[in-house]
Amino acid sequence: MNHELLSVQELKTYYRVSRKKIVKAVDDVTLSVKKGEILGIVGESGCGKSTLGKSILRLTEPTAGKVTFLGQEMTGLNAKDLRNMRRHIQMIFQDPYASLNPRMKIKDILEEPLIVHQLGTKAERREVVCSMLEIVGLDASYGDRYAHQFSGGQRQRIGIAKALITKPKLIIADEPVSALDVSVQAQILNLLNDLQEA
Ligand SMILES: Nc1ncnc2c1ncn2[C@@H]1O[C@H](COP(=O)(O)OP(=O)(O)OP(=O)(O)O)[C@@H](O)[C@H]1O
Ligand SMILES: [Mg+2]
Repeated sequence: MNHELLSVQELKTYYRVSRKKIVKAVDDVTLSVKKGEILGIVGESGCGKSTLGKSILRLTEPTAGKVTFLGQEMTGLNAKDLRNMRRHIQMIFQDPYASLNPRMKIKDILEEPLIVHQLGTKAERREVVCSMLEIVGLDASYGDRYAHQFSGGQRQRIGIAKALITKPKLIIADEPVSALDVSVQAQILNLLNDLQEA
């Protein structure tokens, strides 16, 4: 049986920065991730780690190569199928602030993916949101606040909650703790570890 979750083959993502200049942010990356496996990607600042993550999800369109997730080719999916697929593959962003709409309450931000993927009734969705806040170590009542009313570490937890809310099979975590102080880093890494085992 094939337990492969993700396969990336010869992926390239080039950015055109001017008429003459092209940045080869991702250049010929091949990797695979099996179920239950954690793959770490290490490299200096600007080497293309974030671009690779976004290219796998097609948040940034790759220039060439192939991404296969759950046996389906991401690179060939239309918008609707891609949206459906994103329920199962989620990203925790390096900068959680940028991925949280400043005008929406946290509970609405967290509910949105459930609405998009038509998961549960209104009451069930609210319950999932409250329990997810608690899973990431936040009080359920925090759902009424906006993103700017949290500390950096709390926002990172919200980013994690948002990524986990649809119970994805694969999470791409883009330096989820690099902006946090050491004690909060440990908490978040332990949390991710617990979730990975769950
Ligand atoms: N939208 C963009 N347009 C043009 N160039 C970009 C764009 N996004 C990133 N780049 C460039 O692509 C390269 C890779 O950037 P990326 O953000 O993927 O690096 P990274 O490895 O995640 O770095 P860091 O460790 O600092 O987060 C960099 O040279 C960056 O300047
Ligand atoms: Mg990065």
